[in-house]
Amino acid sequence: SRPAAGTTMLLGKRVVITSGGTREPLDPVRFLGNRSSGKQGVALARAAAAAGAEVELVAAHMDVAPPEGVKTTRVETALQLRTATLEASARADVVIMAAAVADFRPAEAAETKIKKRDDAADPVITLVRNPDILQEIVQVRRDSGTGPALIVGFAAETGDSSSDVLGYARQKLARKGCDLLVLNQVGRDLVFGQDQTAISILDNSGADPQVATGSKDTVARTIIERVAAELVS
Ligand code: CTP
Ligand code: CA
Repeated sequence: SRPAAGTTMLLGKRVVITSGGTREPLDPVRFLGNRSSGKQGVALARAAAAAGAEVELVAAHMDVAPPEGVKTTRVETALQLRTATLEASARADVVIMAAAVADFRPAEAAETKIKKRDDAADPVITLVRNPDILQEIVQVRRDSGTGPALIVGFAAETGDSSSDVLGYARQKLARKGCDLLVLNQVGRDLVFGQDQTAISILDNSGADPQVATGSKDTVARTIIERVAAELVS
């Protein structure tokens, strides 16, 4: 019988997908984290594998299990995610940065548990910037003239008084230098941990974004179809 439609779209392509939220340690028992569930990254990994790709998932903290049969590297911090992703990207055709990477980490992680003390001031957490992994992958490709044919970023935006979500997304695509940017509108009840989602896919042509709504699996299939289309165009 004929294989189901789409199962060979990415046959022979190596696709690296990052997923979940990084955790930045404060001490051995505490961390700074974020609300990423990892569901979108896992759905993308499943969709890419179903399209015939050889998938490598670099997974930070997730509320869900990685898909069966997908090579998965577990990481905790942004720096660990950076190392694993740069390594995997060197041999990838496509990199999809769906992970929620902490922008900052505590300048120092205490080696022992931070204790409350009545005879000392309450602690103040000093943060330092994490490297921008997506920008680095783009930079490596630019400098070496080789690397992934397609680099996809994600943006979770709420919009604010100075710009709307699409405005921020366009600025981000330009700043990051990636090929596609998938925009998620986030708010208190939107996207994080939810099964229904709405996305817009922006490219550098200035064309209107491609919009998709539905479950994270449906949206993931749309993103993977777009990735496959970009690879042949
Ligand atoms: N990203 C990354 N490394 C970081 C931060 C973000 O690779 N240190 C990636 C994310 O995985 C995502 C894209 O960059 O694909 C956009 O992340 P986002 O947090 O929306 O962008 P930032 O540049 O961090 O801007 P903001 O100030 O809006 O958080
Ligand atoms: Ca950020």
